[in-house]
Amino acid sequence: MGQEPPEPAAQAGRIRAAGVERRFGRGASRVHALGPLELEVAAGEFCCIVGPSGCGKSTFLRIVAGLVKPTAGRVEVTAATANPAAMVFQNYGISPWKTVLANVRFGLDLRRVPRKEANARARDWLGRLGLADFADRYPAALSGGMQQRVSIARALAVEPEILLMDEPFAALDAQLRTILQDELLEICQADKRTVLFVTHSLEEALVLGDRVLVMSARPGRLIAERVPPFARPRTGEVRRSPEFAAMQAELWELLRGEVEQASGREREPDRKRQSKQDRETGADRQTDPDHETDPDRRTDREPKQGGTRKEEVAP
Ligand SMILES: Nc1ncnc2c1ncn2[C@@H]1O[C@H](COP(=O)(O)OP(=O)(O)O)[C@@H](O)[C@H]1O
Ligand SMILES: [Mg+2]
Repeated sequence: MGQEPPEPAAQAGRIRAAGVERRFGRGASRVHALGPLELEVAAGEFCCIVGPSGCGKSTFLRIVAGLVKPTAGRVEVTAATANPAAMVFQNYGISPWKTVLANVRFGLDLRRVPRKEANARARDWLGRLGLADFADRYPAALSGGMQQRVSIARALAVEPEILLMDEPFAALDAQLRTILQDELLEICQADKRTVLFVTHSLEEALVLGDRVLVMSARPGRLIAERVPPFARPRTGEVRRSPEFAAMQAELWELLRGEVEQASGREREPDRKRQSKQDRETGADRQTDPDHETDPDRRTDREPKQGGTRKEEVAP
């Protein structure tokens, strides 16, 4: 985090990922978590990424945020400010020992925004998220939905050019999730900025996204993209449209095989899984866990998807 005051959100950022990969660990326990992944997110775009559990979604967001280094490839962020990105985490990531106001002010304090201005901006965002009356409370006194609103207010208070959101509503119940999705829709349409939003909910991705990208099971790569055909500004009403249901079903067809593969993986250790896959596919694969995956092998990993393959994103 730097020291300069944030610029207006009008200067939205651009993200470009080229050949991004990440591996964790060493030797036999080395895990190829992500990639290679190619992605461009335009300034002001709301880009959603869906993918099965463990496919590297959080890792990718952390790489974009600069919190994790890629093992290969790079991410370029074009931005007007030194600290263009703010992140919202699934588990809220707020400090229990700070008041709601101090939590929302956190990024502004780091940027050394004068206290009076910082308080005013924090209160403004608390008001926009319906938390004006809770400024002096501590997070423990708030429900999960309210805590996540605090975490969103904290991220938005610094007016980031890029908002990175990692399954922010996954811990909330279905009704609350719908309400927060609709609130986020309104906020982001009122104040356009680049958003990279990771979720495992297709519904969420379709309501919110200008574009929905589908990731494969680990190591996560982009296997498809769709553009929800809903004009902006849109509301949660799009959930009721026939196009919504159709695209949700189509995306689920794409994702299903990846989710099955990811959940199968969780039940078996890597080594056993690999030999099982070799038997199933007859693939002649190296046993080095660090080997680069043969792109041709991807055909056995892709879900059945009828005539949709032409729209796939190149791996
Ligand atoms: N710091 C780490 N050390 C070792 N393995 C990690 C680390 N972070 C993530 N992983 C592994 O990388 C894979 C992708 O993780 P993650 O990015 O959290 O997936 P997702 O967010 O899609 O569920 C998982 O197998 C996970 O266990
Ligand atoms: Mg995650």
